[in-house]
Amino acid sequence: MSINILCVGDVVGRPGRVLLADHLPELIASHNLELVVCNAENAAGGSGLTPQIFTKLLRYGVDAVTLGDHVYRKREIIEVLETSDRIVRPANLPTPAAGKRWTVVQTKTSGHEASVTCLLGQLFMGSNNSPWEAVEKAFREIPESVRIRIVDMHAEASSEKIAMGWNLNGRASIVFGTHTHVPTADACVLDKGTAFVSDLGMTGPYDGVLGRRKDRVLSALTTGMPAHFEVARGDPRLCGVVVGVDEMTGRAESIERVEIRGRVQTGPAYDTDDGRAQPAGRF
Ligand SMILES: [Fe+2]
Ligand SMILES: [Fe+2]
Repeated sequence: MSINILCVGDVVGRPGRVLLADHLPELIASHNLELVVCNAENAAGGSGLTPQIFTKLLRYGVDAVTLGDHVYRKREIIEVLETSDRIVRPANLPTPAAGKRWTVVQTKTSGHEASVTCLLGQLFMGSNNSPWEAVEKAFREIPESVRIRIVDMHAEASSEKIAMGWNLNGRASIVFGTHTHVPTADACVLDKGTAFVSDLGMTGPYDGVLGRRKDRVLSALTTGMPAHFEVARGDPRLCGVVVGVDEMTGRAESIERVEIRGRVQTGPAYDTDDGRAQPAGRF
């Protein structure tokens, strides 16, 4: 028997949240989803996550939330990181950093256990600790009885993400990439039973630059001056993969890309990250 697990890529601002509210319940029903894992590092105003939005994501049907380099952008999330079993911070942050390095959640109806871990890449991502050491430590600590193991490799370089897939081949059920916000066409099941994709793609507005208004990003890039990177609105799409996993062995059997086009939000206000100006290149 196998169960279906949905992994959803970086939810960006209100357009991303609306996509989940509109489509996740029907996806859960139509694909018989037993587990939904979602990267929510951009869910609040395009950067970070708040407790209120975290609660909403769970209500829409998300079972476990991963984050990334914007983990602490909204400080209010720290208490949630310290108390909830349904959210992890990147495992390779320094040890004292708030939040869990891995968690174990139960599948929706079959009651199987699945672990969720999130890692930050090192290439073009600042000076992060080794994700390679962090994932070994996490995998040693996760009880051996937990066969279904899911890893979010939040990284800029596809080489690092692909290497992490091979590194965990046969040890993780799913290794999915996030952070670059562009879906890749390399979803596959590796030879020892690990489902892999370099990047899920974001769940947010594609009529922009990685989910932000293109006029603002272009202004920042062409002038070198900071600009308010408000969240874009057009062409919202929910992106992710559905993976079939043998719940007894934890081996992946299939992987299928999901891309759902949503409705465009109108109204005067763009979703904004506190109106703070961002230097060119910060997403
Ligand atoms: Fe992101
Ligand atoms: Fe990121």
